[in-house]
Amino acid sequence: LTTATETGIAAYLAARREEVDQALSRLLPSAEAWPKSLHAAIRHSVFAGGKRLRPILCLAAAETFGADRTAVLEPACGLEMIHTYSLIHDDLPALDNDDLRRGVPTCHVAFGEATAILAGDALLTHGLGVFALYPQGERYAPAKVRVLQTVVDSIGTTGMIGGQMADLEAEHEAEPTEDLVEKIHENKTGRLMRASLAAGGILAFGSDDDLSRLDLYGRKIGLAFQIKDDLLDVESDAATLGKKSGKDAAAGKATFPVVWGTERSHRMLAQTIEEAVEIATRLPRSGSRLPEIARFIGARKS
Ligand code: IPE
Ligand code: IPE
Ligand code: MG
Ligand code: MG
Ligand code: MG
Repeated sequence: LTTATETGIAAYLAARREEVDQALSRLLPSAEAWPKSLHAAIRHSVFAGGKRLRPILCLAAAETFGADRTAVLEPACGLEMIHTYSLIHDDLPALDNDDLRRGVPTCHVAFGEATAILAGDALLTHGLGVFALYPQGERYAPAKVRVLQTVVDSIGTTGMIGGQMADLEAEHEAEPTEDLVEKIHENKTGRLMRASLAAGGILAFGSDDDLSRLDLYGRKIGLAFQIKDDLLDVESDAATLGKKSGKDAAAGKATFPVVWGTERSHRMLAQTIEEAVEIATRLPRSGSRLPEIARFIGARKS
């Protein structure tokens, strides 16, 4: 379905974002549905914007393995629901205490802390339900179970939530090590990205060898994504990011710039992106859009 107007990566990302947003709106309860304030809070955070990178990774992985990406559109949305839940909770006063997200007030600022906690809970639950339901059809049944297991593993205590816990505990670490920062990043950010790729790859019936290569690509872009996130926090501003900068240093977070310095972090970022590109090109269809997505992650401004 790639059209001539979609040749550049920016156009590709914009077109996928549009598809994902439409499907998300269809899959989430309307803001008029009971209980209204909860659904309004969910929609406030989900539709404030966002790059939709995790769903796009899922779609692009499916395309790489030769599948019609519309077959994985709903699971892709499930990943975004889970990601947005993680952002709502990450911003809470007890965690990072942020008041701006995706260019708008954070969920707890707009709707109160209790509603924000419940909106996060609801998005997690709804997201998992999407993996149980879609894609429909008997031929997907075993693959769906595998995807659900992969997602649950990747967002649990030995994945994303474990990484979030370690991120918070490391605020009190006087001298965080490189190993500690890599472990935090791999878990709080990398695991959901790897699961997003795996979901697309599994539902496109990729071979085990190709799924392993895809996962290696995911490790590289997951790390690169969070190095870039840390660098943007040091080097950018709220108007560009849609979230406040300078927060990591103020909170004493264990980040790449803290442990490696900004210059080495930039070099590490560039090297990790090149490794990801190299791995992606060894996938079927030369990784389809995955090499360009890796470069986008390194170059992004928000
Ligand atoms: C921000 O993720 C949280 C991290 C894991 C660093 P994104 O930068 O993908 O946020 P959105 O979805 O585009 O808002
Ligand atoms: C957030 O990491 C990771 C998750 C939400 C799981 P950060 O705390 O660095 O993300 P930002 O900078 O607030 O977006
Ligand atoms: Mg955080
Ligand atoms: Mg944060
Ligand atoms: Mg950050």
